[in-house]
Amino acid sequence: MQTRVLTGITTTGTPHLGNYVGAIRPAVQASRRDDVDAFYFMADYHALIKSGDADRIERSRLEIAATWLAAGLDPQRVTFYRQSDIAEIPELTWFLTCIAAKGMLNRAHAYKAAVDRNTETGEDADAGINAGLYMYPVLMAADILAFDAHKVPVGRDQIQHIEMARDLGQRFNHIHGREFFVLPEALIEEQVATLPGLDGRKMSKSYDNTIPLFAGGKKQLRETIMRIVTDSRLPGEPKDADNSALFTIFRAFAGEKEATAFRQSLLDGMGWGDAKQALYERVEQDVAPMRERYEALIADPSDIERILQEGAIKARAIATPKIAALRDALGLRSASSSLKKPAPTKTAAKSSKAPRFASFRDADGSFRFRLFSADGDELLLSVPFSDPKAAGALQKRIKTAGTDGVALQIDALRVVLELDGEPVASSADYRDEPTCDDALAQLRQAIDQLAAGE
Ligand code: TRP
Repeated sequence: MQTRVLTGITTTGTPHLGNYVGAIRPAVQASRRDDVDAFYFMADYHALIKSGDADRIERSRLEIAATWLAAGLDPQRVTFYRQSDIAEIPELTWFLTCIAAKGMLNRAHAYKAAVDRNTETGEDADAGINAGLYMYPVLMAADILAFDAHKVPVGRDQIQHIEMARDLGQRFNHIHGREFFVLPEALIEEQVATLPGLDGRKMSKSYDNTIPLFAGGKKQLRETIMRIVTDSRLPGEPKDADNSALFTIFRAFAGEKEATAFRQSLLDGMGWGDAKQALYERVEQDVAPMRERYEALIADPSDIERILQEGAIKARAIATPKIAALRDALGLRSASSSLKKPAPTKTAAKSSKAPRFASFRDADGSFRFRLFSADGDELLLSVPFSDPKAAGALQKRIKTAGTDGVALQIDALRVVLELDGEPVASSADYRDEPTCDDALAQLRQAIDQLAAGE
């Protein structure tokens, strides 16, 4: 069996080397394995939590899609789509919202951190916090549960969200008594390098210490690498590779042998300037062919659009029937199916024992009903009513009246039922008097049966 691996990429910002080494490259590699069924998507709904800048969102979606494709993602093999193209995701988000414990969301790290910052500065606890941030884990759970993902590769900061997705999936399964959802597990890649940024801290947009992957071309790549902070050892002095961001980045691109040689050169006193040039050349060797594909994709985004739309079709082929099953479990069913559905056996059993009314609407819009015998013969058709309540009230009166409470007459070859001196329902025309008499007897029996049943 294939393992379904699913992950989302929040579409804020422009991909940097840290994203490539830490997420994109391993994900593309994993997607090539035969035992993996990969679902990768652009979490653009999540992006809205952080940014209301439409142009930025648009640009980032495009750049991220192009980056993943340029990095070798094969959209034939992988299901690659935009979250916002899958209408089932926000729908599932609501279903899950309605079973999510508010207390659980209070404890979500991202929300709690925002509250803590407010409290520290003496602000109201929820000042400036949108409900999107609060609901973030539920949206993410919907992303995962809609596709029955087994494994979710994420950074450590996301483990709690996967736990919440499990919790919500489990809760839904429990409430509705069936394994509707696969319970996902976080996949933390231990071997994958976390790249240091220019200042040696983890490379991250929030530290403003990133090296762009494609943006600005090779010129920008080189210039940024030249800004990596080093110690002040001069050329000729031995350098400590293990405490150098430069070496860590080099190693993330180079093979074992190359890395060992580079380490030796640093020990032998290679100057930082030369080391940076060597790093740039090594990174550029990998990045250049990808950058070429990236630029071609960005130049004509219609390919990207087509790929993503095809991805959405593939994704929805899974999510649509899933949501249909959930809607049914929740009681969000078609009204016509629920008429037939509440145990057809019961209705059948009942109709074989008891007479029944059937209401309907005439072509002219008026409301009428028929009375059927226990055997299913039509006995009466009511006069038309403009108010369905009046038709209902009449049924109720007939039910409770018994044969003593109504007037039953034969008029020519038909049976007429009168209430308060007014004909309110009548039978069809019978072919002869004996048949008509039989029908009257049948009607009396039915009306008494109804009264007895009330
Ligand atoms: N929240 C994730 C992040 O910031 C992105 C994301 C959204 C995601 N939905 C997901 C990751 C579903 C995995 C699965 O990294």
